[in-house]
Amino acid sequence: MKIGILSSGGDCPGINATIRGVGKTALMQYGMEVIGIHSGFTGLITKDTVTFSERTLSGILNLGGTILGTSREKGIRKRLRSNENGLADVILKNCNEMGLDAVVCIGGNGTQKTANLLSKLGLNIIGVPKTIDNDVWGTDISFGFDTAVNIATEAIDRLHSTASSHKRVMVVEVMGHHAGWIALYAGMAGGADVILLPELGYEIDKVNEAILNRAQKGKPYSIVVVAEGVKTPAHRPADYFTPTIEQGTGIEARETVLGYTQRGGNPSPFDRNLATRLGGHATELLVNRRFGRMVCINGDKVDSVPLEEVAGKLKVVTPQHDLVIQGKRMGIMFGR
Ligand code: F6P
Repeated sequence: MKIGILSSGGDCPGINATIRGVGKTALMQYGMEVIGIHSGFTGLITKDTVTFSERTLSGILNLGGTILGTSREKGIRKRLRSNENGLADVILKNCNEMGLDAVVCIGGNGTQKTANLLSKLGLNIIGVPKTIDNDVWGTDISFGFDTAVNIATEAIDRLHSTASSHKRVMVVEVMGHHAGWIALYAGMAGGADVILLPELGYEIDKVNEAILNRAQKGKPYSIVVVAEGVKTPAHRPADYFTPTIEQGTGIEARETVLGYTQRGGNPSPFDRNLATRLGGHATELLVNRRFGRMVCINGDKVDSVPLEEVAGKLKVVTPQHDLVIQGKRMGIMFGR
């Protein structure tokens, strides 16, 4: 078999470990030919590729980002749907000309949607979920998330001492556009006092009240972790909560936006192993010609789900999540 690997959408730690997992298994275990496709789905249009060997796949396990480059795929998906300029035919023809039997697409929600479209057009596709946001439906966890939580937790840990020394409120904005997984996990691991998630909303008076209650109990400082997707009148939640909390409580407030530091750099050991397992399983699906599926983690097992089931869905935090329930039982404020 000859297979292609591409990474699409926002980068995240662990993509290279996946490329290595897919590629080395394909080359060493099954004697396949393996090529990398540059710049996401764009590379299927431009036929911009690289041939992988065991040697060229070495030394990338711990590298952040993606050696293949990436691109946002929303535009391509739209063009594919309307077959603008015969794009679907171009991609099918190119894959045929490159002699590709199948393509492994590493990406988040948007990528899985595009992968599903291509699968329906007749390409042999396997999806691998990646995102620091952990919001891909159909898998218990995606790689990148653990690394991002580690980075955000370390930042929250560091903010505690300065918050306490100055008796300030520290507002920490973490990534998570539609889902608050990073805010929940890093907030709980970092001992935050208020955790605000897009899924659960907030009432600003109650947030202020919780911070004042702490002050009255002898804790004149607080850590507020907010996901970037929480809706506020300001563009960035941190820009809204910091002055509003300061005004509402009379306690000085400062903000920290972690931004892309959560997405860059080396993957954690957990993410390296997760990416390696998912990559290896993707190759198993290829060998068994189980196309049109996304590899996933189900409990502690590597498994797969049909792309069709994944496409268009989002995995979000629910109020019933045990970390939310446990946080509330310990006095952590979740917005209301
Ligand atoms: O990878 C997911 C994510 O980090 C979101 O949390 C964030 O909103 C988005 O990517 C921003 O990425 P970009 O600026 O690359 O579009």
